[in-house]
Amino acid sequence: MPDLVAPVRFALLGCGRFGWRHLEVLQRLPGVEVVVVADIDESRARATADRFGIPAYTTDFREAAAWPGVDAVDVCLPTYLHRDAVTTAAESGHHVFCEKPLALRVEDAVEAVAACEQAGVKLQVGFCRRFDNGWLAAAEVIREGRLGRPVVWRHATGTSGAPQSWFFDRDGGGGPFVDATIHWYDFGRFVFGEVDSVRASTSIMRPGRTAPDTGIVSVRFVSGDELHLMWSWGLPPKVRVDELHEVLGPEGALIMRPRPEPGVDPIRVAGDGVKVFDSVPHANGVDPGNLGYLWLLGRDAAQPVIYQRNDMVEDELASFVQAVRRDQDPPVGGAEAVAALRVATAVLEAGETGQAVSLRTLPALTRRAAR
Ligand SMILES: NC(=O)c1ccc[n+]([C@@H]2O[C@H](COP(=O)([O-])OP(=O)(O)OC[C@H]3O[C@@H](n4cnc5c(N)ncnc54)[C@H](O)[C@@H]3O)[C@@H](O)[C@H]2O)c1
Repeated sequence: MPDLVAPVRFALLGCGRFGWRHLEVLQRLPGVEVVVVADIDESRARATADRFGIPAYTTDFREAAAWPGVDAVDVCLPTYLHRDAVTTAAESGHHVFCEKPLALRVEDAVEAVAACEQAGVKLQVGFCRRFDNGWLAAAEVIREGRLGRPVVWRHATGTSGAPQSWFFDRDGGGGPFVDATIHWYDFGRFVFGEVDSVRASTSIMRPGRTAPDTGIVSVRFVSGDELHLMWSWGLPPKVRVDELHEVLGPEGALIMRPRPEPGVDPIRVAGDGVKVFDSVPHANGVDPGNLGYLWLLGRDAAQPVIYQRNDMVEDELASFVQAVRRDQDPPVGGAEAVAALRVATAVLEAGETGQAVSLRTLPALTRRAAR
């Protein structure tokens, strides 16, 4: 019988940018205690413990992963340390939430998943877009067939990328086509199913990097739907360009990143900063100040697709805490982490070789044997 009252006690590994984001959320979740944090930078570990009122800190992430009395370990370390952290936590009998990607090599991800399975502990991986109400609203539009099928989901962006250099190393973070676009590979699988093949043209724009920072990627799903990414993390700091984020289909287009345009925007900002839902009736009980919208451009009319904005990281960590507390399977785990990483490594291979990489393991169609 699961204990629904006892607090879920966490160790958090990695007190960097996202470690702090997690700590802010964990502090808000009812019935959660963080009992130890780890960071190799002692001053950062100490400052984190002070800032969040955590009773203990260490510079040794393995010590924290095996900390006596914790129920769960939250891994926010650089990606190249994820496998060791997950394995140590699992071998200590602790449930694991690990930020994405689970590892940089598929073999390492498989090893981390196996360690959790052998230990009988839960593993959830940080595919937070599965909890993003905006992306989920888009998924619903696609699944309902309102764009027709197949669709092309396309996203273009250009920034300087993450601030830390390890993100750009092939053996550190894998660059944007592993670290960042893995959200798109995972969500694509969530909506469209298995991947058929990938094509990519990639390059390194900024010197000193070992992973591609710029490129064009095309992921084809067995369903016939496609994901097109045009990404760069090669721009200088503070320079960023407009983003394109749309889904195109034979029955219409879905604009996932609408820009407010006077006269078109259904949500206007009142003088006090509160968003007012202007031209479309909204559902009862939905706070109009907290609404997001996508634009659905159909054959005859454009209409907004309204959703309640949410904190996707809060919702994903809450789902992990619930899985631990109620002894349920986490909503997104090791199998999804390995599958998305397979797509990411295929993208790197396709970029290097210039050849399409097939990920199809089973024939999509069963053909009748010739008579
Ligand atoms: N889900 C998302 O959308 C999302 C967003 C940002 C980051 N992330 C992921 O979160 C992870 C962390 O990213 P970040 O931006 O916080 O990185 P970061 O570099 O800001 O933080 C990493 C922290 O780990 C510490 N560290 C490094 N080596 C260590 C070691 N050997 N032992 C203990 N501590 C060590 C560093 O001192 C640093 O404080 C990455 O895997 C990243 O991909 C996910």
